[in-house]
Amino acid sequence: LNYRVPRTRKEIFETLVRGLLRLEYRGYDSAGIAVDGPRKDVKDDNNSICLIKKKGKVKALDEELDKKDSVDLDEVFDTHFGIAHTRWATHGEPSAVNSHPQRSDKDNEFVVIHNGIITNYKELKKYLSSKGYEFESETDTEVIPKLIKYVYDNRESEDVSFSTLVERVIQQLEGAFALVFKSIHFPGEAVATRRGSPLLIGVRSKYELSTEQIPIQYNSGHFKEALQEKNSRNRSDSTTALHSVGDGKAVEYYFASDASAIIEHTNKVIYLEDDDIAAVAEGKLSLHRISRLAGEDPVRAIQTLQMELQQIMKGNFKAFMQKEIFEQPESVFNTMRGRICFDTNTVVLGGLKDHLKEIKRCRRLIMIGCGTSFHAAVATRQILEELTELPVMVELASDFLDRNTPVFRDDVCFFISQSGETADTLMALRYCKERGALTVGVTNTVGSSISRDTACGVHINAGPEIGVASTKAYTSQFVALIMFGLMISEDRLSLQKRRLEIINGLRVLPELIKEVLALDEKIKGIADELYQQRSLLVMGRGFNYATCLEGALKIKEITYMHSEGILAGELKHGPLALIDKQMPVIMVIMRDACYTKCHNALQQVTARQGRPIILCCQNDPEIVKNAYKTIELPQTVDCLQGILSVIPLQLMSFHLAVLRGYDVDCPRNLAKSVTVE
Ligand code: G6P
Repeated sequence: LNYRVPRTRKEIFETLVRGLLRLEYRGYDSAGIAVDGPRKDVKDDNNSICLIKKKGKVKALDEELDKKDSVDLDEVFDTHFGIAHTRWATHGEPSAVNSHPQRSDKDNEFVVIHNGIITNYKELKKYLSSKGYEFESETDTEVIPKLIKYVYDNRESEDVSFSTLVERVIQQLEGAFALVFKSIHFPGEAVATRRGSPLLIGVRSKYELSTEQIPIQYNSGHFKEALQEKNSRNRSDSTTALHSVGDGKAVEYYFASDASAIIEHTNKVIYLEDDDIAAVAEGKLSLHRISRLAGEDPVRAIQTLQMELQQIMKGNFKAFMQKEIFEQPESVFNTMRGRICFDTNTVVLGGLKDHLKEIKRCRRLIMIGCGTSFHAAVATRQILEELTELPVMVELASDFLDRNTPVFRDDVCFFISQSGETADTLMALRYCKERGALTVGVTNTVGSSISRDTACGVHINAGPEIGVASTKAYTSQFVALIMFGLMISEDRLSLQKRRLEIINGLRVLPELIKEVLALDEKIKGIADELYQQRSLLVMGRGFNYATCLEGALKIKEITYMHSEGILAGELKHGPLALIDKQMPVIMVIMRDACYTKCHNALQQVTARQGRPIILCCQNDPEIVKNAYKTIELPQTVDCLQGILSVIPLQLMSFHLAVLRGYDVDCPRNLAKSVTVE
């Protein structure tokens, strides 16, 4: 939303589409856009909204915008508010009519974009239908524009503000949402709100904004009066941030569900809290809430993002995933940077140090996550049990909630999430918080819901991850969790030798990762042989079991081959039945305590004419003798070996997907950040 900066509609389209392209990894089955009319076919219709929607990726929408001649692309605006959305379908199949913006009626009086799920949409739909509202889509979202129109049509006085209407609407909504509203009744005004789904506001300004704080206006029933009162006061009053941001300082506002969409315009952002309502009118931003919660901060600060545009660009790589795999020497280094002192063998995680005593007193650790983040918990469980001498549970967030798992005040619960927004993990966090456990976030996204809602935590600092299939976040989560183990065991004499060994291992880890990445060509050669297969098994145990789970997940996510990570100890209890000459099997056999047992599994596979491709340590002639092919990796400390052994499988899945002709960064049916249950 621009203010005092003339922009053509073409530029407005471009800005919105570029933002969508940066967010496309969050969902890409349909997209839509709404900008101010007037439609060329309607004379003197100054307040119309032009809605353009398209099934498919953002590119399809962009092509559609090029074709559209319903709006004048050269028209210039001083203030213009446009909204756009890229969808990952939950309710209703991907189609133009189900994509967002959703609208109130054929005249597009109110249009809305929504992330999340409205769980009581059926009741609302029934009510609104009984009032004569006709629904055109199968989405849960459509109740929102209908509801705001209903509230508008039934308003008690003419001067109800846009944000008051939104406030009334969200009081009726259950579920999770980030919403942005646009209306022909409030031209040039924007209203956005959230509950459970992320939303931030980028503020672009010619002036220094670093110390700004935006006060919240409570009891917005009196919003109009409050605003008028403020406007009539001395306009140069610099103590009122509302004035200094609004009064000519801000030139453009960007509402977005994540920072990557806006970083090319500004690095100054405000993160909205649940139930905050943000409104921009006449170039001024104001924040509203229905009432003040006990202990709540009555201001929202403008924060400075550390992200660089270059970090979210593909550079010379074919795909973000490939770029992120190759970034791992640096991303893992960045996770450790400033936290491990190799001279004194100490590890300090700033976000946890004030809670160390409490953590040491706890009776168990519970690590909770989804997908790849769950695998990081599996990967580090054994070493955390060893270093903390505590029982460690690893939990998939959805299952943890399904079981109503008992949680106690003396539990410490870790919430591992790259995005920090995954709905299941976030709900598990709320569940544990209510039961009084200490909550620890392990996320890659500063300002995310999980990093803000946990009592303490670690940012893994891997840099933005765009590829839907997580790679560098996994290895950084892995390292961060091990650093936690090292920090907590610092005063345990009996563990010093082990700690030293691990710290020395971490010191050279980035170099060893580079050695593994150098095997790329060889791995591509193996992928060449495998890409037409339908199935691929990945087998291992002990410290490398998580590699099998994670490798198999990568393969199924982006190559659509069936792939299973198998605990080698379970081979004889079922999976052995799958083994024959045809079935491709990858085995992970590293020189650690499970080596002999893995060897037994290898014998069982070769005895059934299986032709295993083996990930093993360099110089292991015994393995080479029994393998169909080997990928030889540098050896490191047993508990760090999984960081090296997963990389060939990341590379393998990438090459398999490319050879099978799939879009690596946008696997079908999946999304990077799953903010719905
Ligand atoms: C989605 C992504 C996965 C990711 C999982 C958990 O399923 O496609 O790559 O591992 O969510 O995401 P989180 O952001 O919580 O780590």
